[in-house]
Amino acid sequence: MRRYILSAILIVAQLISGISVCRSQGAMAPFSITCNPYLQNLNKNGITIMWMVNYNATSWVEYGKTEQRGSKAIHSQSGMVDVNPGVQKVILTGLEPGTRYFYRVASREVKIHQAYKVVYGDPVFSDTYSFITPSASTKKFSFLAFNDIHSKPQFMEDIFKRESGFSFAMLNGDIMGDINAEEDIVKSMLTPFSNYFATGKPFFLTRGNHETRGAGARLLSKYIDTPTGKYYYSFIYGTTCFIVLDCGEDKPDDNQYYYGLSDYDNYRSDEAAWLALEVQKPAFKNAEHKIVCIHMPVTLKPPGEDIAGHGVTDCSKKFAPILNKSGIDLLLAGHTHKFTVIQPQEGVTSFPVIVGGGPVSGKETKNTTYTLVEVDKAGIHCSLKKINGEVIEEVKIK
Ligand SMILES: [Fe+2]
Repeated sequence: MRRYILSAILIVAQLISGISVCRSQGAMAPFSITCNPYLQNLNKNGITIMWMVNYNATSWVEYGKTEQRGSKAIHSQSGMVDVNPGVQKVILTGLEPGTRYFYRVASREVKIHQAYKVVYGDPVFSDTYSFITPSASTKKFSFLAFNDIHSKPQFMEDIFKRESGFSFAMLNGDIMGDINAEEDIVKSMLTPFSNYFATGKPFFLTRGNHETRGAGARLLSKYIDTPTGKYYYSFIYGTTCFIVLDCGEDKPDDNQYYYGLSDYDNYRSDEAAWLALEVQKPAFKNAEHKIVCIHMPVTLKPPGEDIAGHGVTDCSKKFAPILNKSGIDLLLAGHTHKFTVIQPQEGVTSFPVIVGGGPVSGKETKNTTYTLVEVDKAGIHCSLKKINGEVIEEVKIK
């Protein structure tokens, strides 16, 4: 009887105190940063910094042009400063172009959160890191493009060390296998990439078809930040405009394994309407270079020939006619797991397509590749490489 009374008292005490759910379930680990910061949505005047903590918390970023930092930023919505467990997000604005900024993130647990009483724990801090904003005149930079990693990113650590001069990573789809739980996003993407490079260089995510599958896939957008808040967006880096497209699923929406939960034909139509407007904007038209990233090659055959699955065909039908008229210099893709370079073909595509390779049957085979893309005044120089750095094929675009 005494035990029941004690349990009842504890439950009532928790209800009254409003102690966060994670804590009240008996987790004893100290409050901490559980995933290092990772950079998102870099532009010449701003950046988004995200990280993870284990309990309910409020957070901020300290930043500045020296290691002493000096400025502080928080994130609020509708006047309320964020208080939540898990992923934390702060957006820095008003940054100077072409400038190195130092930062560290800070979080403190919100132990009690009531209408008239809030109790905080002690703050925890990350190490100090730095990043560089691009400027409108940045003509020379490079980036690394990956695809079809399928939740096995370990081999990438050596590549990030070897190719240390890159400015950002383009994660071009199926970086994760299916996303059954949010934890899959943390384990397969956020933790490894924040450890490898993303505390100092951002990654841009292109969603692949596998990243649409499973309950956790519906929560993926919570963990990244894009200029549109969607999986399709554009951004400017220096004098280059990037368009990132979302291919959706690879099979027809009525495929039995989607169980009535897919609506990608309509989605790709909406996206094509956005794309048609996007390529009319001065930011795109005035860019010196125009690069498109999409997980599925928008065309392997003339649009309409259903030779590579419904998703590829629908992307080709809807996106290729717009891209072909828009002066695109390069399209980066993946999905097939077979590395290929497709040169422009009359009536098919007016730009070269580099399809990165990927492991077959989950194994890191000789097909696995990455692409180093170097941009400068002379043009775009792409090196399709094996994971040991050996160049398989080069594409030069002037
Ligand atoms: Fe794929």
